[in-house]
Amino acid sequence: SELSGVVEYRNVTFAYPGAESPVLSNISFTARPGQTIAIIGSTGAGKTSLLSLLPRLYDAAEGEVLLDGVPVNNLDHAEITKRVALVPQRPYLFSGTIEHNLRFGKTDATDQELWEALRVAQGESFVREKSKALESRISQGGTNVSGGQRQRLCIARALVTKPRVYLFDDSFSALDVATDARLRAALKDTTADATVIIVAQRVSTITEADQILVLDNGRIVDRGTHEELLETSPTYQEIVES
Ligand code: CTP
Ligand code: MG
Repeated sequence: SELSGVVEYRNVTFAYPGAESPVLSNISFTARPGQTIAIIGSTGAGKTSLLSLLPRLYDAAEGEVLLDGVPVNNLDHAEITKRVALVPQRPYLFSGTIEHNLRFGKTDATDQELWEALRVAQGESFVREKSKALESRISQGGTNVSGGQRQRLCIARALVTKPRVYLFDDSFSALDVATDARLRAALKDTTADATVIIVAQRVSTITEADQILVLDNGRIVDRGTHEELLETSPTYQEIVES
């Protein structure tokens, strides 16, 4: 259907290959088109692991991860990446031009689409300021752009593919608070019909989320809106105060 992009985790338990104890236990939630679901929790809580199961970087041994009602274990990578874009916690750039980096997921994107993605990702001005703009070279490992610029290029790369589902793994942490706020405002319009799952360190990044999942030691210990969690969740209050 037109509004595809429903993500459902159903009683998912996951251990890394060879590990004895699971890093995720009994995770259940649903994220629908038009919604923003945020995941917050201390370092090592399992946030990145949780996201990694949707694009099948790993497969859960127990429970199911479903995309539009189909277990992702029945979908191949191409079918998933048509609908799902993951902006990883450690954003990677390839040696090559900015243009090559942005077109990675959609080689036939027009220049206009690249600029539009850069506009939303708050990367337009620093790319325009470079003498070769989109043809500027990125050195191996992206070492000639700052961490925040690297994050914005990787966000733009995801936007170019126009996915139904966005997974942002701590994608705003290298941005100053003002850029973070501008980026999220622009994203809100662009991703209005999409399903958005955001892992965040800063509470300010996710206060407007439809639902916040508080992850602790691989379990969802609390869930609700920012206001609800401030009332009900000691774990969330600790994160807010930290
Ligand atoms: N882990 C592991 N093997 C991996 C990746 C992670 O055993 N290849 C373990 C980590 O050591 C940690 C747990 O899985 O104990 C959860 O890791 P992760 O999902 O990366 O935690 P995050 O919540 O994403 O932590 P951070 O905020 O630091 O990104
Ligand atoms: Mg992580």
